[in-house]
Parts: sequence; C-alpha cells; structure tokens
Amino acid sequence: MRAILEVRNLAKAFGAFQVLEDVAFQVQKGEIVGLLGPNGSGKSTLLNIISGFIAPDKGTVMLDGRDVTSVPTFRIVNEGLARTFQLPIMPQKMSVLEVAMAADTTMHGVLPTLFRGAGFCKAERDTRERAMQLLDELLLTRVMHLPASAISGGQKKLLGIVCALMARPRLLMLDEPTAGVHPNLRQDIVRALHRLNDQGMTLVIVEHDMHFIREACNRCIVLDQGHIVASCKPEELASNERVVQAYLGASVEEARAQIMQKEVA
Ligand SMILES: Nc1ncnc2c1ncn2[C@@H]1O[C@H](COP(=O)(O)OP(=O)(O)O)[C@@H](O)[C@H]1O
Ligand SMILES: [Mg+2]
Repeated sequence: MRAILEVRNLAKAFGAFQVLEDVAFQVQKGEIVGLLGPNGSGKSTLLNIISGFIAPDKGTVMLDGRDVTSVPTFRIVNEGLARTFQLPIMPQKMSVLEVAMAADTTMHGVLPTLFRGAGFCKAERDTRERAMQLLDELLLTRVMHLPASAISGGQKKLLGIVCALMARPRLLMLDEPTAGVHPNLRQDIVRALHRLNDQGMTLVIVEHDMHFIREACNRCIVLDQGHIVASCKPEELASNERVVQAYLGASVEEARAQIMQKEVA
C-alpha cells in the first residue's frame, strides 16, 4: 500500500545547529500517529518542512506518492494536507466565525464577501454553515462573534483546528493541540479526532500529554536531537530504553516511573 506521507532522508540546519538529520518515516492512510520528543528535538521544524513553510537542506517529502518538497504551502493545502500551529496568532479585527470562514480554501470562502453576485450567495451560505458546524464541534459557538484575537490561548488552538478542517484535508497535522487547553476539553478533542479518523482522515499529532497520546494514537514516532529513535505503539513507550532515556533525560527508572504515572493519571 502506498503511504499517504513519506519523508525520506530529511535534514535541516539553522546556522551551525543541525536540527534534523537523516529523518525518514512513513504514515499510512487511516493512521493516527503521535510525534513525540523533548522540547527542541525538531518536531515543529519537521511539521514546518512537511507543510511547506520552510525548505529542507536535504531530503524529500512525498504526499500520496507525489513529491511536494518545498512546494508552496497553499498548494500543499490544496493537495490535502493541513496543519495547526503550536502558538496560533489570530487576526485583530476578524471575529472567530469570520476567521473560520476565511479558512475555506475552496475559494468561495473569501470571494463571496467581495462579490455578492447571485452565484456566490449559496457558496457563502455553505461556507458559513460548515464553519458554524465545526465551531460547534470544537465548542466555540459561544465565542463565535468575539474578535478572534480576544479568545483564550486554548480557544485559539481549537480555532486553529477548525481552520485546518475548513480546508477538508485528507491528512491533518496538529502541533501540540492540547497545550493550554482546559483539561476538561481534552476528551472532547480526542473524540472529535476519532470522529474525523472514522471518516477517513489521517492524523499526525505532536503532543507531550501521555494520557492524550494513549487515548488518541495508534502509533508513536519519537524524535531526539533531530533523529528518529523509535516507532512503536503508545503502550510500548515505557519499555523502550531509547525513548525513556531520550524523552525524559532522567535516569531510566525515574523516567519510566514518570511515564507510568502519567499513563494512569
Ligand atoms: N527559524 C529558526 N531559526 C533558528 N533556530 C530555530 C528556528 N526554528 C527552530 N529553531 C531551533 O531548532 C530547534 C528545534 O526547534 P523545534 O522544531 O521548534 O523543536 P520542538 O518543536 O521539538 O520543540 C530548537 O533548538 C530551536 O531553537
Ligand atoms: Mg514545537
């Protein structure tokens, strides 16, 4: 079976600092893959390269068998790959609903507000309905008329997911979706992600919360200092020496105890 995402031999340095080296992995259609690793291990850089925000020094990114290395971001979105950001920044003067509507990449997201011709009205209604439905699923209905810059950090993360979903991606990559989100909402996010996965969406999730990883992911890829050190099931993380040492940096016994603790928490 052809992988929906294949990364080959990827390398990236910022100045003299080698952030990623010889990174290679595949994601199969339908998987929910957790991308783990200590702070600074290169997770966000990897997402930035895959989604076309920065170019690698070496290597290839294949989406559904097509080489998309260094292809502009908007084209990659049109190819079916959307992503969210670790620290989302929202426009000052647009409401939550307007931001969600503008993220509709099928063109009729923005145009109808400019050209109010008869042909565009239905498209605008469709975009609005779809945005409202997604805002509802991600529990943002109450704040949809507030300025997008005024909502909480956690709500901005949820709005980031809504925006990514407006593009109807086949592959969705999330950068720390639960960081700053109220713990009560995490279960809702897991449920929403599973629902999307049931509908055929493939997911790659950068996340630190072990409980979330266990609940949400089928497989984990672990980065340490720019190298992939493991690809295993979430329940195998605690028994993988490389992961325990790399991920938590503490003594093995201490680190494993921490992982187990997080798993039962
Ligand atoms: N644009 C950049 N310029 C210089 N250094 C960067 C840049 N982006 C990331 N880095 C550095 O690369 C390393 C990996 O960063 P990042 O990919 O954000 O890690 P992670 O997401 O795993 O925490 C860090 O040391 C970070 O400071
Ligand atoms: Mg990061």
